[in-house]
Amino acid sequence: MSERRRIYEGKAKILYEGPTPGTLVQHFKDDATAFNNEKHGTIEGKGVLNNRISEYIFTRLEEIGVATHFIKPLNMREQLIKEVEIIPLEVVVRNIAAGSIVKRLGLEEGKSLDRPLVEFYYKNDDLGDPLIGEEHIAAFEWASRGEVDDMVAVALRVNDFLSGMFGAVNIRLVDFKVEFGRHWEGDVVQVLLADEISPDNCRLWDMTSGEKLDKDRFRHDLGDVLEGYQDVAKRLGLFSSISPTKPVLVS
Ligand code: TMP
Repeated sequence: MSERRRIYEGKAKILYEGPTPGTLVQHFKDDATAFNNEKHGTIEGKGVLNNRISEYIFTRLEEIGVATHFIKPLNMREQLIKEVEIIPLEVVVRNIAAGSIVKRLGLEEGKSLDRPLVEFYYKNDDLGDPLIGEEHIAAFEWASRGEVDDMVAVALRVNDFLSGMFGAVNIRLVDFKVEFGRHWEGDVVQVLLADEISPDNCRLWDMTSGEKLDKDRFRHDLGDVLEGYQDVAKRLGLFSSISPTKPVLVS
């Protein structure tokens, strides 16, 4: 069998050429990094969980009319996606103060924000993904005004939907990061929700205990990283209940 062509390798995923033009295979690795690559680790099984959780979330979002890059699941670690040109922005939505905003503005962790806050970061590892404003996006032409409006609207819609979805399983959606990409079909371009949504790029706290179930377990050495991700997948109904000792992901 011929080697698949690797299009891009990131910190947690690899993109391979897809079976038909305009498609890619998104492969989820077990690697984890934090603080812009300062901290490295491998969390065995993380890629399988993130593939399944992200597939589930993108499918639910498509059902409510959010246009995403997701096409279909392929195997335990891979999904077929539409090829997009990634817009070099990380769009973060915050409901509760945590992480970098706590440090930057001297807030108390856990403080509820009056309304969801949408922030943009310029996707550039060498610069450590700096926080930017909409004026920078326009000035440096990273995205058009229309694209920015679309990204904000979709990010807030995703926030509403995911807050409800996680709330129903007693998880508070503290914040999350999404990315968008341009998908071309002939001369027509559409902005699609891209990348992944998983405990790698969300903060998820148990509503009762406040326990952190996301990548902050890895970032801050809280332990049992995989167990947090498994807990999220289980609560979303993504594990078979047949074998509680050896959980099996259901499709
Ligand atoms: P922050 O508080 O560190 O700015 O992170 C906000 C949210 O974005 C949090 O859910 C983690 C996520 N995130 C990523 O997915 N990738 C990143 O590179 C960073 C810095 C944050």
